[in-house]
Amino acid sequence: MIAAQSKPLAEEIIDEVIARHPERTGDVLAILEEIQQLHPLKYLPPETHEFVAQKMGVARSQLMSVITFYAFFNLKPQGRHTVTVCRGTACHTRGSKQLLDGLKAAAGFRDDDDEVGSECGAATSFTTPDCQLTIRTVACFGQCALAPVAAIDHEIYGHVSDLRLRKLVAAIDADTGAAP
Ligand code: FES
Repeated sequence: MIAAQSKPLAEEIIDEVIARHPERTGDVLAILEEIQQLHPLKYLPPETHEFVAQKMGVARSQLMSVITFYAFFNLKPQGRHTVTVCRGTACHTRGSKQLLDGLKAAAGFRDDDDEVGSECGAATSFTTPDCQLTIRTVACFGQCALAPVAAIDHEIYGHVSDLRLRKLVAAIDADTGAAP
């Protein structure tokens, strides 16, 4: 099931996205973002880089420099839900490391894990092998007065405690049927 989901998007779908952007080169960020959002595992597989570069008439290396510059582009499959823990100074002093460690432990990652030993995950994030949950960090949400801050998908939560974060994650797990 996951292997099937991790296949690249069909070329016809990518063609449709590119066709919606007549200003191709100027719209490269929007095009890549749409393509990533359409992928069931919210990432840009290598085959997609090649195809998009050809279609847009740019060198693959040029496209890769864009993809790797922006943190919101994913080179590895992502979980269905994402929990982002802020690791900025304000959040760090208010316990964000403990939040992150507790979350990782509850999801089954070891302290020294920096990458998941499955087809899911990336060095800068942690994705459960069933691709239901990705845990990642951010440098600052710009909401330092609410430290410590975490986000679940696109919803930001301030003054988060370990217990509250686990309850929030449990609520999305109930939706997906996944552990922890
Ligand atoms: S340091 Fe966490 S929101 Fe700014």
